Amino acid sequence: MSVNMKGKSLISINNLTYEEIWQIFEFSKLLKLKRLSGEPHRLLEGKKLGMIFSKPSTRTRVSFEVGIYELGGIGLYFGPTDLQLGKSENISDTAKVLSRYLDGIMIRTFAHQDVIDLARYGSIPVINGLTDLLHPCQVLADLFTIWEKKGNLKGLKLAYIGDGNNVANSLLNGCSKTGMNISIASPSGYKPQNDIVANAKRNAAYFGAKVEILDDPIAAIKDSDIVYTDVWASMGQEKEAVERKAAFAKFQVNPELVKNAKDDYLFMHCLPAHRGDEVVDEVIDSANSVVFDEAENRLHVQKAIMALVM
Ligand code: CP
Ligand code: NVA
Repeated sequence: MSVNMKGKSLISINNLTYEEIWQIFEFSKLLKLKRLSGEPHRLLEGKKLGMIFSKPSTRTRVSFEVGIYELGGIGLYFGPTDLQLGKSENISDTAKVLSRYLDGIMIRTFAHQDVIDLARYGSIPVINGLTDLLHPCQVLADLFTIWEKKGNLKGLKLAYIGDGNNVANSLLNGCSKTGMNISIASPSGYKPQNDIVANAKRNAAYFGAKVEILDDPIAAIKDSDIVYTDVWASMGQEKEAVERKAAFAKFQVNPELVKNAKDDYLFMHCLPAHRGDEVVDEVIDSANSVVFDEAENRLHVQKAIMALVM
């Protein structure tokens, strides 16, 4: 390994260097091969990962818990009502206490600042398992999947159709830092966050890529190599679901829309998918879809991240 990442928290892809991102991908590939061939890779023997979930999860929960187990360590799950955190104890005290017991913390929560504070006050690496703002582990697994399928990242075009949410924000960070072009089409009022777009444009300029934020899904998807979408109402936005469904009606990824992508486009979705809303069965179940490989790769990529930082 060329870059030492031990002790580093993974809060945003934007805090990773180009070299660190590629080190994660190379290491993910190696760990995936070892797992496939049944070769032991207990790189975190006896290490303890705390897993704090303030929101539900299938993939993140299972892939982190299986991942730390396969690396020889143990995962401790804390659900929304398990810890004193946020109710009778502040983040700083929780961070200091957990740092005395554990070797790393994975957290899925609402406020992004809580993850930053957990890392700031604690002395062990913190891994962001999704906040309202970002979903970096997801996007690292997505980019790894694209690299596996297409053999490269630089110069490819990813079209994201839908809500400018945590996944869109992390895709902006990830694509711009790996030289991928990204075009996002969202209705007005649902665009990705301005500072993240501005930062992605700066990164993209440096790495020779392009960032477009558009209104028209057809323009965004034109000649794309990857078509990506996510739910219209994220966790915590359930009350807005009806109003969002109306706002996003023209942003469904369906056979008519994907005709504008390249023939060999990859369809991606972080899952869970709301079939019939942001995507229809004909697309998500098509030969272009890689959603289950993408979900599997969460395991390999997060194992690499844990082994590198813990
Ligand atoms: N993609 C993803 O993070 O899925 P979960 O919400 O099931 O963890
Ligand atoms: N944007 C979605 C992603 C789920 C993995 C949410 O935050 O609910």
